[in-house]
Amino acid sequence: MPPLSTSAPGVRQAAFRFRCIGCGDLSETARQDFRCSHCSDLLEIIYPQRREAGTGSHDLKDTWRQRRLSQSAVDLSGVWRFRDLLPALESDEQAITLREGNTPLYELPQCARITGVPRLFAKHQGLNPTGSFKDAGMTVAATFARLAGFRWVACASTGNTSASMAAYAARGGMRSLVLVPDGKISWSKLSQALDYGAVTCQLRTDFDGCLRLLQELVLRAPVYQLNSINPFRLEGQKTLALELMEQLEWQPPEHIIVPGGNLGNSSAIGKALLEMRDLGLISRLPKLSVIQAEGANALVRTLREAAGKNLVSVQAETRATAIRIGNPASWKKAVHVLDATGGACEQVTEVEIAQAKAEIGAEGIGCEPASAVTLAGLKKLVMQGFVKPEESVVLVLTGSLLKDPDFTMEFHRGDLFKDGEGKNAELNRLRRPPIVLDATLDEVMRTLEKAER
Ligand code: F0G
Repeated sequence: MPPLSTSAPGVRQAAFRFRCIGCGDLSETARQDFRCSHCSDLLEIIYPQRREAGTGSHDLKDTWRQRRLSQSAVDLSGVWRFRDLLPALESDEQAITLREGNTPLYELPQCARITGVPRLFAKHQGLNPTGSFKDAGMTVAATFARLAGFRWVACASTGNTSASMAAYAARGGMRSLVLVPDGKISWSKLSQALDYGAVTCQLRTDFDGCLRLLQELVLRAPVYQLNSINPFRLEGQKTLALELMEQLEWQPPEHIIVPGGNLGNSSAIGKALLEMRDLGLISRLPKLSVIQAEGANALVRTLREAAGKNLVSVQAETRATAIRIGNPASWKKAVHVLDATGGACEQVTEVEIAQAKAEIGAEGIGCEPASAVTLAGLKKLVMQGFVKPEESVVLVLTGSLLKDPDFTMEFHRGDLFKDGEGKNAELNRLRRPPIVLDATLDEVMRTLEKAER
């Protein structure tokens, strides 16, 4: 019989409240659009009794380590294993889990040479059950959707959220409704949502239009919204940072670098870092930096043109379709965590993204285009002197290489950029187009010799 799951001594699973990030209003329940009923700002989840619970940081670290030996579903999940820092369930069986989390931390020796930062790592969230970091948040939010008695869940998405939501809804016996921008998401993500049984609507608008519509829909229909506006999503995504620190034996790196789209993930990682510091799990904060595509640079502009005080939205355009977002919902939360950790915010071009993606691929790891902004951004931060060669850096790779095969094929075939934009020697060196040959030994031998030269 598998051992029962364990709880940290002296730690009660966390009773939580919703707190408005604008006016600070505290409440036990949230409206269906997860906005404050007084000022309409976003909500976050807080744990008022945590300090009184006398949580010892050693106890927590031990408990989390011990749970790795357990075969119970919640302990096999790399998210619920850290449930002491998540909203409490009444029983472990309530969790809808696909064994999410437990993602590897890889060294990147070739990218380290390219950037001049020897201690360079990738936390690969693309190795989650549906191929992106979204699963870590979705297991928690889908669980609370079902506990609240909802039959339908819904999201607006650039693709990964919808794939993840559809999978967790299916596992939890709920129906799911997906709103995606027509023609602007990859087929692999769309095909996941279809296969997991979602009702999938391709709307003639962009992601921002889909999200606007969803926010109205959830106020009119009994549908639970699973975008990252939903604070349960961010609680689950916090565990990426907990697992990372555990992998680094609780010695924080100097820098963590994440892609920025709707800005939920950066907010979640930042929240986790601050909570870990407050609980004494880490002794100093890594700098958390956010990188955006130049064509979808709302946070970059918000910080540069409005000093982070109000959102400068943009008409988003980038081939990294996962982050093709012009009006990021969680911008205030992201500004807060950048401020609190002393991180930077940068933008990178389409060519820089494509090159970085191929460089990560050449390590045998691979990722989707949106994830590669992290390496492209690191190069800039090193040039600016913000990241120093002796510092350690973790790139958060958010999605699997297989999420956007069209991008990869077009890059290697040389069709990704028009009008000579991508014609540079560095990109040519990285390209590996497929070679069509007659089926003879001679032809294959000649190709092998040519490649060896
Ligand atoms: N990387 C990938 C692969 C993504 O899918 C996303 C967001 C991001 C980065 C940005 O994360 O929004 O938390 O700042 N994808 C969402 C979706 C919007 O609908 O799948 P963020």
